[in-house]
Amino acid sequence: MVVCLCQGVSEKHVRRAIADGASTRREVTRACGAGGACGGCHLTIAEMICEGSDQPSCPGRSAEVVEAPSFA
Ligand code: FES
Repeated sequence: MVVCLCQGVSEKHVRRAIADGASTRREVTRACGAGGACGGCHLTIAEMICEGSDQPSCPGRSAEVVEAPSFA
């Protein structure tokens, strides 16, 4: 399944970035490119980060992760 349509990044690649230590959306973007354009996939990426987290306040849900898409 493709998570980020803009960059053509699959779920497999996002999960690999998270497994390799990416714990915020920006870190996932740096690692694999997902989330680096319109922002439409940011919530999905944040949810994927939180799936593997056992912390009550998952850092993947911080305000910097869930940004409004920009269509300017
Ligand atoms: S769908 Fe991921 S940045 Fe647009």
